[in-house]
Formats: sequence, C-alpha cells, structure tokens
Amino acid sequence: MTRLLHVDSSILGEKSLSRRLTAELVDKLRGDIPDLEVAYRDVAAVAPPMLSGALFSARGAAAEPEDPALRADFEAARQLLEEFLSADIIVIGAPMYNFSIPTQLRGWIDHLVVPGKTFAYTQAGLQGLVAGKRIIVVSTRGSLYAEDAARSEQDHQEAYLRTTFGNLGVTDFAFIRAEGVGLGEAQKNEALAAARRDIAALAAA
Ligand SMILES: Cc1cc2nc3c(=O)[nH]c(=O)nc-3n(C[C@H](O)[C@H](O)[C@H](O)COP(=O)(O)O)c2cc1C
Repeated sequence: MTRLLHVDSSILGEKSLSRRLTAELVDKLRGDIPDLEVAYRDVAAVAPPMLSGALFSARGAAAEPEDPALRADFEAARQLLEEFLSADIIVIGAPMYNFSIPTQLRGWIDHLVVPGKTFAYTQAGLQGLVAGKRIIVVSTRGSLYAEDAARSEQDHQEAYLRTTFGNLGVTDFAFIRAEGVGLGEAQKNEALAAARRDIAALAAA
C-alpha cells in the first residue's frame, strides 16, 4: 500500500487555485497508483496549534502535559507529525501569501521539524532523518518569480519549503507551479494550463 497525505492551506476556499490543482494532482496519482490510500488535512479549516513556548517545552518533557488545553495542543501536534511520518507521498498546496506561505501551513511545518524525530544535530551539523518520501508542492502565486533573478530573491515561499524539507532529508521534491495568476485572465489560464501539463507529465513513482 502507498500512503499519500494531501495537505491544503489556501484561505480562499472554493476560489482557491492551489486547492483545485492539488485535487487534480491527487486524482492523477490515484489513477497511476492502484493501492493508494489518501489522507486529507486542511490546515486552513482546522489550524494547527501555534507552537508556543509551553508546547515547545512539552515536546521535550518526559511526561505529557497535565493542563487540558496544552494537552489537546500537544496531542494535535503529535498527530500531525505521525501523519507526516507515515506518508510515502505528500502533496502540499502552498500558495504564496505575503512573499511566503500561509500562516497555517507554517504552523503545520512547525510540528514537523522536531529534533530526534525528523532531524538530528550532529557534530557535522544538521542531519535530516526523513528518508524515502516524495513531496510534491503545488505552488500558486499572483506575480512572476521563477524566470526573473530580482523577483526570485523575493520568493520566500518555494525557497523556504525547499530549505526546510531538504534539511529534514527529503530529496524527492518537486514543484507544480502556477504563477502570475494575478496578472489577468489570459496569464492565469496559461499558468493553470502549464501546471496541468506538469501534473500530466508527473511520473507515477
Ligand atoms: C493574503 C494574500 C497574500 C498574497 N500575497 C502574494 C504575494 O506576496 N505575492 C504574490 O505574487 N501573490 C500574492 N498573493 C496572490 C496569491 O499567491 C494567488 O492569489 C494564488 O492564487 C493563491 O493561491 P490560492 O488561490 O490557492 O489561495 C496573495 C494572495 C492572498 C490572498
């Protein structure tokens, strides 16, 4: 069985382009991989708990927290990490918001970057502990960044995701991109068509 975790983070609901594209991408993979089991996580609908100081400390403590609210956050965070660790393929809908990713997606990632679980500090530096996963990010953005060196310096969305998951040890990492979607209907349709071509061309494994 192949486990896929489908994560959406757009705050735009029905109007979201990344949600549309992640759904199409997951459908394509369902067709390609007969034994695919899909879990769905909408971090905009149910926001991950904020990584507070108390929650951060609870992570490293020997016993689970006694305070009921903190305990609930601790359990939610633990579940998010387990769900990530148990997936073989992770499809992430990651729109660019304010040159970065949605707050809720960042909140999700805060529960995945956990020493001893997904990375380790070693004498040689950071060592990623996440091996054998495939991550496919659907990146949507209003402007154009990829082809322009000056603009791509402003990209803290794809760059952040690449850096973060790369440091966790993920090497099979791909972007499906629709950019310039805010630059008029023609550019938006062209961007969606390009993303759909990339989805169709994705290898099954
Ligand atoms: C709150 C917000 C912030 C945005 N910030 C940027 C930005 O910094 N740069 C950009 O190129 N587009 C920006 N956009 C445009 C989105 O990237 C674009 O609408 C994209 O389709 C969002 O993906 P979604 O439709 O799945 O939400 C922003 C949109 C929203 C709603």
